[in-house]
Formats: sequence, C-alpha cells, structure tokens
Amino acid sequence: MGREIESIVNILTYYKSLGFNELPAKFIESFLRARKQSYLSLQGATTPVKSRSSIQSAGSMNLKDEIYIEAELEKIKEEVGKCTKCQLSKSRTNPVFGEGNIKARLMFIGEAPGVDEDRQGSPFVGEAGKLLTSLIQKMGFKREEVYITNTVKCHPPNNRDPLEEEVSSCFEYLKKEIEIISPKVIMTLGKVATYVLMGMKGKIKELAISKIRGKVFSYNSIPVVPTFHPAYLLRDRKDKWLTWEDAQEALKYIKNHS
Ligand code: URA
Ligand code: SF4
Repeated sequence: MGREIESIVNILTYYKSLGFNELPAKFIESFLRARKQSYLSLQGATTPVKSRSSIQSAGSMNLKDEIYIEAELEKIKEEVGKCTKCQLSKSRTNPVFGEGNIKARLMFIGEAPGVDEDRQGSPFVGEAGKLLTSLIQKMGFKREEVYITNTVKCHPPNNRDPLEEEVSSCFEYLKKEIEIISPKVIMTLGKVATYVLMGMKGKIKELAISKIRGKVFSYNSIPVVPTFHPAYLLRDRKDKWLTWEDAQEALKYIKNHS
C-alpha cells in the first residue's frame, strides 16, 4: 500500500474509532489543504482528542486536532440545522451557526440572527456585522481569524429579543462551540450573551449592559469581556469609545497568552 493511501486509511480508521460513520466534506478540504502544506503526520494516530482544552497551543495544533475540531463543529452544525427545540425553528429561514477560525483566540457572541443573517445563514453579515468587522480589524485581526457566533441560532420574529426559554434551549450548542474553540477570551455583545454566560436567569430583561461592561468575568476559566451590541452602537454612537476600551481589555488576554 502506498504511503498516501496508508495515511488515508489511518485517518479513516481513527475517525471510525471516534464514532464517525460519515465524514463532512470539510474533512476532505482540510486534508487536501494540510497535504499542500506538507505537514501530514497522522500515521499511527490512535488517541481520540477529547476537546480543544486538551490541545495546548493553537500554533502547534496538528492536522489530527484540526480535523477533529472541524468534524465536531460540523456535527453540532448539523444538529442545529435540524433543531426544533424551541419555537424559533418556525420563524427561521436558515439556522445560523457560528463561523470563523477553529484556532481563534478571540470569540464574539452576539444575540440572535437578524433578517440578513436569517436570509444568508451566516452570523453578522448585515449592518451590525459591518460594524463588528471594523472593530475586529481595529483590534488587529482579520474577520477570518476570529470566531463569531450567536446566543440563539434562529431569527426571532420581528427582531424581538430572544425569550429566556429560547436562550436556555439553545445554550447547549453555544456551550459546545465554546468548549471546542476554547478561545483565550470571549467578547459578549449585548446583555443576552452576557447574561447567559453569567448564568443569570430571570434577569435578562432587567439589567442594562452599560451597568455590567467594564468588568471582566469568567466562564469555565475563559475571561469574558462584555460590551455593547453593535446594533445598539448603530443607533447610538456615543458609547462607541467604551467598546474600544472593552476591546483593549480583551486584547490583554490574548497578548498575555500568545
Ligand atoms: N445581531 C446579532 O446579535 N447577531 C447577528 O448575527 C446579527 C445581528
Ligand atoms: Fe434550536 Fe436554538 Fe433554533 Fe431554538 S434557536 S430551534 S434551540 S437552534
């Protein structure tokens, strides 16, 4: 058996041992991409990776880890695609799963997909998304280098705030995304994302983000920096400079850990 075929067989055997009966198309993409960069080192891979937290450094992540993470995310995305756990499944056109770099050190969590996102099936692609992209760039990143997701994955009718039971139903997906990406720092955009990570039920509607931003808290040992939602900043620009302060705070955690 040639070396190349042998590597493919090893990879497939490895994934079968992890419980995958099918592999997403992304697997092939990653495989080919990695081969181009010629750092294939999968022969003999037998130890399943449990989660990103067991992978020490994004920089040193090998192909096995990368493929595993992509496959895990794809599995959750598929679940979200079929999800009818809350009533938002009836109002959505497309579920909107998180997008971005699987090695992202910086993760943004918004509230819920808007009309544009619902139409296109991608997070933050409308006006609020443009503002978010410009913040990301000011922070020194390309949009593709960070990971962007939402608290609920389906568009609420008339752009209303997601209800607490919708947020709770959807939390399972967000929780897994955070675990798999395992960023160095999370920026929550607005109060819904902030309070869900703080585990504050029942108070989502009452508390203003202006009262909570400026402090850093922790979710499963990951620092969380709350800030204003970009859609709010589009309506009221006066707090934009505070978002920049929050961004500076978030950057400290990345610099301290790179
Ligand atoms: N607002 C959000 O919270 N998320 C999006 O994806 C778009 C707008
Ligand atoms: Fe499922 Fe979340 Fe969509 Fe509700 S919002 S249907 S829980 S994916």
